[in-house]
Amino acid sequence: MQQSTSPARPVPLHVGIIMDGNGRWATRQGHSRGEGHRAGAAMVRRIVEVAPDAGIGVLTLFAFSADNWRRPKAEVGWLMRLFREYLRVERARCVVNGVRLEVIGRRDRIGRALRTAVEETERDTAAGTRLHLRIALDYSARDAILRAAQCLQPGTIPSRDSFGRLLAIVDHGIPVPEVDLLIRTGGERRLSDFLLWEAAYAELHFSPLSWPEFGPAALQDAVRDFASRERRFGGLPDAAAG
Ligand code: IPE
Ligand code: IPE
Ligand code: MG
Repeated sequence: MQQSTSPARPVPLHVGIIMDGNGRWATRQGHSRGEGHRAGAAMVRRIVEVAPDAGIGVLTLFAFSADNWRRPKAEVGWLMRLFREYLRVERARCVVNGVRLEVIGRRDRIGRALRTAVEETERDTAAGTRLHLRIALDYSARDAILRAAQCLQPGTIPSRDSFGRLLAIVDHGIPVPEVDLLIRTGGERRLSDFLLWEAAYAELHFSPLSWPEFGPAALQDAVRDFASRERRFGGLPDAAAG
């Protein structure tokens, strides 16, 4: 008798998203840039909700770059309040939905209340296994690489894997697999110092949609587009490999 074999379940993806275009979206609607960021936060909620069913196991969202401190004080203040509010409201939902929320990036330049909210959220959601959500806040990939390099013993060269793990740790995270799919919304086609090491072999997807109008359907499209790509990692196409 033939044994029925169930198809292997695909490995959950690590998806990174550069959530860009909030300000331009708001300006087009005749709203303030702050309103664009508020709409952006609402879109984060929707995307986090659908991510596990889209086959995503780790989701890293670029929320505030180390260079975003160069923006006007009022906009930075608005964003920081929004992050605090997001964590306050989302903490319980993350626990119920099995989402482990982690914030990566520097902690020494954000306000004390936000730092406390980050720590409490990370503590309360640590048991989540359905989705590992990483929010990059005061984040710079180049700064993380420099800080990780500083941790090395002089004269030692770590393996790529162990350096990757170190990179997560210096940014207060736990090690995660490399990025499979990197999405940038808002029409620009650049990395803006996001996950430079971890995305070495990521498939890139650039969406013309602004982040507040991205939506679950656009995420599905991006994942479908990813599934149609052939990843070779420097080898040969499957057909030619023999
Ligand atoms: C992304 O949207 C959010 C942050 C960088 C904080 P932007 O604020 O960069 O929006 P645009 O690019 O000006 O439209
Ligand atoms: C990248 O967007 C940072 C985030 C999305 C948080 P920016 O709007 O800051 O990037 P540039 O300035 O267009 O490169
Ligand atoms: Mg931008």
